[in-house]
Amino acid sequence: MQTDKRLVRKENYDKKELNLFETLFGNSNGYIGIRGTLEESVPEDFPTMRGQYLAGSYEIIPMKQAESLCNLVEKKQTMLNIGDTQTIKLTINGEEFAPAKGGASSGERVLDTSEGYTQRSVLWKSPSGRQIKVRIRRMAHFMIKELFTIEYEVEALDFSSEAVFDSWHVAETPNYSDPDDPRLADESPCYLSVTKQGFSGYTSYSEAQTLASKVRIAIATDHIVCAPSDYDTMVREEGGALITRIRVPIKQGEKITIIKYCAFSDSIREADPLKKAMQVLADAMKRPLTGLYDDQKNYLSEFAARSLMEIGGDDELEDAVRFNMYQLLCAAPHDAYSGIAAKGLSGEGYEGHFFWDTEMYVVPFFTLTDPHLARNILAFRYSTLDKARENAVLVGHKKGALYPWRTITGVECSGYFPSGTAAYHINGAISYAVIQYFFATGDEGFLKEMGLEILIETARLWLDVGVYDRQGRFCIQEVTGPDEYTCMVNNNYYTNASARYNLLYAAKLYEQMSADPKVAKLAKKLSLSDTEIEEMKRAAELMYLPYDEKTGINPQDDSFLDKPVWDLASTPKEDFPLLLHYHPLHLYRYQVCKQADTVLAHFLFPDLANKETMEKSFRYYEKITTHDSSLSTCVFSMTASMLGLHNEALSYFGDSAKLDLCNRHENTKDGVHTANMGGCYMAIVNGFAGVRITEEGLGIDPFLPEGITRYSFPFTYRGSDLKLSVDRDNVELELISGDEAEFMFRNNKECVGKEKKWTHRL
Ligand code: BGC
Repeated sequence: MQTDKRLVRKENYDKKELNLFETLFGNSNGYIGIRGTLEESVPEDFPTMRGQYLAGSYEIIPMKQAESLCNLVEKKQTMLNIGDTQTIKLTINGEEFAPAKGGASSGERVLDTSEGYTQRSVLWKSPSGRQIKVRIRRMAHFMIKELFTIEYEVEALDFSSEAVFDSWHVAETPNYSDPDDPRLADESPCYLSVTKQGFSGYTSYSEAQTLASKVRIAIATDHIVCAPSDYDTMVREEGGALITRIRVPIKQGEKITIIKYCAFSDSIREADPLKKAMQVLADAMKRPLTGLYDDQKNYLSEFAARSLMEIGGDDELEDAVRFNMYQLLCAAPHDAYSGIAAKGLSGEGYEGHFFWDTEMYVVPFFTLTDPHLARNILAFRYSTLDKARENAVLVGHKKGALYPWRTITGVECSGYFPSGTAAYHINGAISYAVIQYFFATGDEGFLKEMGLEILIETARLWLDVGVYDRQGRFCIQEVTGPDEYTCMVNNNYYTNASARYNLLYAAKLYEQMSADPKVAKLAKKLSLSDTEIEEMKRAAELMYLPYDEKTGINPQDDSFLDKPVWDLASTPKEDFPLLLHYHPLHLYRYQVCKQADTVLAHFLFPDLANKETMEKSFRYYEKITTHDSSLSTCVFSMTASMLGLHNEALSYFGDSAKLDLCNRHENTKDGVHTANMGGCYMAIVNGFAGVRITEEGLGIDPFLPEGITRYSFPFTYRGSDLKLSVDRDNVELELISGDEAEFMFRNNKECVGKEKKWTHRL
């Protein structure tokens, strides 16, 4: 199995590119996220987001509402830039290594997704003519989550002198901001204040705390020097920074290497984070770096065995898909203390908030490749259920839980409720992920301990918000669906369809398990009665799903088709994304969609409409969707696959797969688009391969799109490991572990055993 994949880009020290490279060549491991910033400083006029992040760490800041209407959110949580340990300044014979500032250089950046490191290589001729070669390799360790390393190697090509390294540790650093972009914070203060810092021997340490959330962050760093001659190490504090200076003589042709070890911890997870950081550091430094690299490689080869996607006939596409899947791994929390932010740990876009993106777009990837990680993510949501109950009360509900639209700890952080709190479909996404996780794994323990409680509380919310109209239909009023260019509407088709699924399975799974003592205890705790379960079933059955006879489509909501259609063809190119150029009210008054909405509902709940309606709807929404949100083209691809529109499926998929690598939305500098990366996986697995997980079991219905010669991927279903391969002629399902697996191929029941692959001619 060929698993080595590298993203390689030439480094030109171009202002615009630098910021983009910070995202593409960052290092994260689900706990730490370090942007791929240059170790030396950059010229003043270079835009940079010099960030280091820890999953789930946050500060609480005021979010003043212009008019203090009742119960509006007036505070929000925001992610922290937790410090700077990446700065290493190199001076050779008095000249500072700073290729972005001067001298002549050639170099490249590499991200190796099979070995789990990034590397920067530079050949630099200083302004006075000395030539050096620099190779810097960075790693956020997947197994020792608190550990980040920088291996900094210098070679003197045509001179002998002295190399001086100033390695920095700064515990108070500002966050990034851009007041002109609503997707970023508008202020950039330092949220952390140092409570203690200093050196213990040559180890630098710091602990810093936020003012309001009281989160404490601890950092420890130290160095190992590999050099042919004796060297000096001196430590000093300067302007708040802890600086380790290492002076090493260097002769022509010689190489010297400094290895910087950085360990991080936080008070969300540890009672004494500083002790933890110091311990991780000490343990890591006892091991050779090569051993740490080997761990990383082994971890990733296991990841590849569980998830490696192969696409024949289009190497670029295969690279893009693998890059995306690697980024998903980098974003996945390894514990239940944090969710997944819209940008993972790769940047400060959306201030580190978790949205429905996680459950609708990212959890499906882990459910099929590493159910343990999927469980963690859902367990995090469970841990915030009480806050969701409080949120429901705040908005006026008498019962149930309303998950916040955007959050870090579970508290609502959206200041603009029409496209924030009103997006009740987040409840639908979370319940959908719980149900799918259960169907795919059969993990009853999870359901009894956490999942059912989520399902019942979210279902209750629908009962509380919904009303029966005069025709006896169950309706949901004044909510916002996924399309944020249409807000506060009645009967958003997507919301109603996902509420229906939530209600249906909350009742069904509860009834199936009600005899279990744990479930009986839960029912008692929640004062759940049979009458309420009957109400859930009735609401699901009578759920209103808008349909328009004249057009033959499912309208996005009750008033959608009465609005004028936005003239996209005549809208100037520079007006996209529309949200940056038009007042929201103006957008709301037109038929124009930011992203897939009804088209997503059709994909998730295909039994609720017939094929003709879905196809007509697809064609209708296609004309009025801008895809200004990155959560859109992947969905259009999946639905096109389902409807047999193979060319469209491939073309939308291509847009989604390369979105960050090609910087298609021109904002990858703020972080990768994590949901789209999950959506890209779904476009292949659930789209091309037609993998479906339902109550009845596993289903597959694959096709091979034009332009690629084959594809294959492993996945896990109910404890069995399987591999699906599709080429022009055949589809093949192989059982890698487990006894046998039953599945539906189109309308036929099939079974694959250990001895023989299941094959079918396409
Ligand atoms: C999309 C939302 C998404 C959010 C975070 C917005 O642009 O409209 O659906 O949850 O970005 O990714």
